[in-house]
Amino acid sequence: MSTNNNGQSFYVTTPIFYVNDAPHIGHAYTEVAADVLARWHRQRGEDSFLLTGTDEHGEKVLRTAAANKTSAQEWTDKLVHDSWLPLLETIDIDNQDFIRTTEPRHEANVQKFMQKLYDTGFIYQGSFKGAYCVGCEEYKNMADLVEGSGEYNGQDVCAIHSKPVEQLEENNYFFKLSEFEQPLLDFFEQNPNFIQPESAKNEVVSFVRRGLEDLSISRSKEKFDWGIDIPWDDSHITYVWFDALLNYITAIGYGQDDAAFQKRWPATVQIVGKDILRFHAVIWPAMLMAAEIVPPTQIFGHGWLLVGGEKMSKSKLTGIAPNQITDIFGSDAFRYYFMKAIAFGQDGSFSWEDLSARYQSELANGFGNLASRTLAMVRKYFEGVIPSPASYTEADNQVINVAEAAVRDADEAIDAVAINEAINATWTLVDELNGYITSQEPWVLAKDETNRERLATVMYVCSEGLRVLSVLLAPVIPKAANKLWAALTEGKLGALSDQPLNDAGTWGQLTAGITVSELEVLFPRIEAETAS
Ligand code: ME8
Ligand code: MG
Repeated sequence: MSTNNNGQSFYVTTPIFYVNDAPHIGHAYTEVAADVLARWHRQRGEDSFLLTGTDEHGEKVLRTAAANKTSAQEWTDKLVHDSWLPLLETIDIDNQDFIRTTEPRHEANVQKFMQKLYDTGFIYQGSFKGAYCVGCEEYKNMADLVEGSGEYNGQDVCAIHSKPVEQLEENNYFFKLSEFEQPLLDFFEQNPNFIQPESAKNEVVSFVRRGLEDLSISRSKEKFDWGIDIPWDDSHITYVWFDALLNYITAIGYGQDDAAFQKRWPATVQIVGKDILRFHAVIWPAMLMAAEIVPPTQIFGHGWLLVGGEKMSKSKLTGIAPNQITDIFGSDAFRYYFMKAIAFGQDGSFSWEDLSARYQSELANGFGNLASRTLAMVRKYFEGVIPSPASYTEADNQVINVAEAAVRDADEAIDAVAINEAINATWTLVDELNGYITSQEPWVLAKDETNRERLATVMYVCSEGLRVLSVLLAPVIPKAANKLWAALTEGKLGALSDQPLNDAGTWGQLTAGITVSELEVLFPRIEAETAS
C-alpha cells in the first residue's frame, strides 16, 4: 500500500524577500505553504530541504537605508535580525537554510556564474535606453505603464506602484535572453508541469510567444553601487534580479561544493507569488540553460492575498503583520487558516471574521473538541488506558475506510501542490469521527456493564482515528499535532516526526494498554472583542 520514500530528495524554495521593510501576511503566506510542503515530504521519510532568505541588494533597499539615515549593510542586518528571522518563529517555519544575498557564499558564486556566461558568449556589452521601476526592480516597456494621477498627473507611472519610472541611458551588459525563446517553448512543452497552476502556465507561454528581448543585467556604478561587482568590469554591478535568482543554487553549493549541489539540484518545486512568475518561469530557466544546468522541476505561482480587492503590499501600506494574527490565534491557526481558506494558486481575501469563524467551528469545535473529549472518555471509562477493540461493526469499518482514504487523498493532493485539498481530505476524518461519536453514544454505552466490549471498541476507534489525524496534521498544525501525539501515545510509538505519513492510514497502529494523559486545550476560546 505505501511506497517507501526514504532517501528521496525534496527541495522546495520560497522567493527571497526584499528587506526594504518588515514582512506582512503575504510573505508569511508563501513561507507557510512552502513549509507545509517541506514538512509533509519529510513526514513521508524523504530528505526534505526548505530554503528561504532575503534579497538585499538593489536600488530599492539602498534608498530605504538612505531614507533611514543608515548604510545599506546596517539596514539589511537590522531588518534581517529584527524582522525577517523572527517571522520564521512567529509562524513556525522549519527551514533548513536561510540565505542572504550579501553573504560571501552567494556573492562569490554569483560571480563564477556570471563569468561562465561571459566566457561562453551569453553576455555582451551594449547600450540600454528605457524605463526602470525601482519598486519592481524591473525594466519596463511603454505598455507596462499607465497614466499617473494626483501628484503624478501627466506622467507615465508603473501600473503596480503608481509612481513614475526612471528613464535610464547606460552602457550595460546584456544577457542573450532572446536566444532562449524557442528552447523555452520546447521546454514548456516537454515538461507540462513545469509551470503550475495551469492559468499561470498559459500566461507565461503566451508571453514568451510574443518574443523575448535581451536583458540588461548590470548597472553602472556611477548611479549606485549596492550590488555584486561584475567580475570582469568593476565599474558595473549585477542587476539585482540576476543576483537574486541565483540564491537557489548558491545556497546549496553551486560553484563551491559540487557534490552538495548535485545532491539537491534540481529543486523539486519553487513557490513564488504570481507577481514574480515571469522572472522564475522565463529568465531563470534561460539563465540555467545558458550555464548548462537543468531547470527546476516546477515553478508554482500562487495567488495574492487581497485587502479591499487590492494586493496587500508594503508600498501601499495595506500590510498586516503576521504577529497581529498569531498573538491572538497562535501559529497553528494562522497556518491552518491560510492553507485551508484559499485554494492554492488562486487569490483570496483575508478577513478577521472568516478567520474567527473557522477558528471556532473547524479548529476549536471540530478538531480540538474531538481530541479532548475522546481522551476525556478514555480516562473516564477506562482509567486512561486505551482498550483493545472487539469485533468491528459496519460503523467502525466505515471509519477505517474514511481514514485510509483521507491519507491517500491528502497525500495525492500534496503531489499536486493542492494544499487546501489535502486539508479537506484530512477533514473528512475529523467529520467522520465526530459523526461516529454522535451516533455511537459512548456515554449511553457506559451506563450498562454488558456494553463494555462495545464501549472498548468505540473508544479504540476514536483513539486510533486521532493517531491518524496527528500524523496527517503534523505538517499543517505542528504544535497541536505534537501535543495530541504526546497525550495519546505516552512516547510508546516513538516521535511523531518518525511516523511515515503515507503509512498513517494503515489501521491498528495504536497499541492497547497505553495510558493517555491529559490534553491541554488545543484551541482555546477567544474573546470576541480581541478578535476583531
Ligand atoms: O519580489 N499575497 O520580493 P518581495 C501573496 N525579492 N503573496 C505575497 C503578497 C500578497 N499580497 N505580497 C507579497 C521580491 N507576497 C524579490 C524576489 S526571488 C529570487 C526575489 C509574497 O519582497 C509572494 O511570494 O517583493 C511574492 O512573490 C513575494 O512575497 C514578493 O516579495
Ligand atoms: Mg514586491
